[in-house]
Amino acid sequence: MNNSRKSIPRVAPKAYDYARDVLDFGFHNAHAAGMTARLERDFAKRFGQAYGIAHCNGTATMQSALMAAGVGGGDEVIVPSFTVFSTPAAVLHCNAVPVIVDIDPDMWTISMDAIRKHITPRTRAIIPVSICGLPADLDPIMKLAQEHNLAVIEDNAQCVLGQYKGRIAGSIGHFASFSFQSSKTLTCGDGGMLICSDDSLALAARKAATIGFKDLTLKPGDNVVSEQLRCQPDYQRHDSIGWNQRLPEIAAAVALAELERIDEVAKMRTYSAIAFDRVVQDCEWIVPQKTPEGYVNAYWTYAARITRDNIVWTDFLATFIEMGGDGFYGAYLPAHLEPVFANLNRAVDENPDRYPQFAGRLPRYERGTCPVWETIQPRIIMLKTNYFDTVEADRQAEAFAKTIKRFV
Ligand SMILES: Cc1ncc(COP(=O)(O)O)c(C=O)c1O
Repeated sequence: MNNSRKSIPRVAPKAYDYARDVLDFGFHNAHAAGMTARLERDFAKRFGQAYGIAHCNGTATMQSALMAAGVGGGDEVIVPSFTVFSTPAAVLHCNAVPVIVDIDPDMWTISMDAIRKHITPRTRAIIPVSICGLPADLDPIMKLAQEHNLAVIEDNAQCVLGQYKGRIAGSIGHFASFSFQSSKTLTCGDGGMLICSDDSLALAARKAATIGFKDLTLKPGDNVVSEQLRCQPDYQRHDSIGWNQRLPEIAAAVALAELERIDEVAKMRTYSAIAFDRVVQDCEWIVPQKTPEGYVNAYWTYAARITRDNIVWTDFLATFIEMGGDGFYGAYLPAHLEPVFANLNRAVDENPDRYPQFAGRLPRYERGTCPVWETIQPRIIMLKTNYFDTVEADRQAEAFAKTIKRFV
């Protein structure tokens, strides 16, 4: 229990000023307000990386990274089964094959053994996901990637200011991807950021995100070809294929204001998580996600597993709400069991000529392929950490303590 209440606003106060600056420029040249440039520069700097490339969301970031890394038709990309569909979806969007593998039984991040088992001559990339805010065990992944010449994209949509062995999460893979979607720690409603320190990968990602404009550079905010060039009738604009995934300048303005106060937002998340953790430490049948020594969990959510079989998940939720709690989430279905994958298997079986990139290359996406996650997933609870107010966070933790007592 904390006696000195700390409370912060849901939206950074500066966001209103920055958004107004953008609007004052008008849409003709809104980018002249320089918000995207500042956001890209300051975000990359915060994570110790050379380049930031703002995107419209944290799925697009991974599409660009994969395209920049040369991932294409029929290539394989290894992803964990405990993630949001966006991770394997980005792989499919590149016509590549998501190889969905099991997780570590305690940390719930991608399992190194599973990665090793699934490397083939077609593997091109690995996307370790910092799930719930906890980075994966990245050193052995980077080592393996180096041996097999693979790209590593950290999916840090859920991890802002987490750490791995003394290094900030986002500074280890060849790329790191972040989401600014409304539930995320740093949000502007929707948006994303890709960071990278390799000149050629970063430039390829910039172009992948911006319909392959020929003359874009890695200068922060350089996502529009200069008027001088584009006013010429004979100007050749595009020399490669890309999506169009720019972040609107007004969203960049909000994200910049949020970045400038990210430490206090992240602290509030951690405060809420620790309040729940104190309660969980006294209960032997709730086991939290394991944060090993040397890691910092950014706690996008406080995730734990109910180990007693005689507790019905929905009863536990209903009791928490009855005790004054504002609910918790279940974990996403194991990604490979989402119906999209069975549908894809069926579509390719029925019409292989229509899907030459997948025919004969797609794994069977079915139960039994990720037994650890399939067993644990139905028993997970993901408690919210976005209270922005220490008294409310304490109140939620008390409601959780009362909930546990009901089941003793
Ligand atoms: C682990 C993970 N990866 C990727 C994404 C995709 O981010 P976005 O919704 O911004 O596309 C999310 C967000 O939901 C996520 O939680």
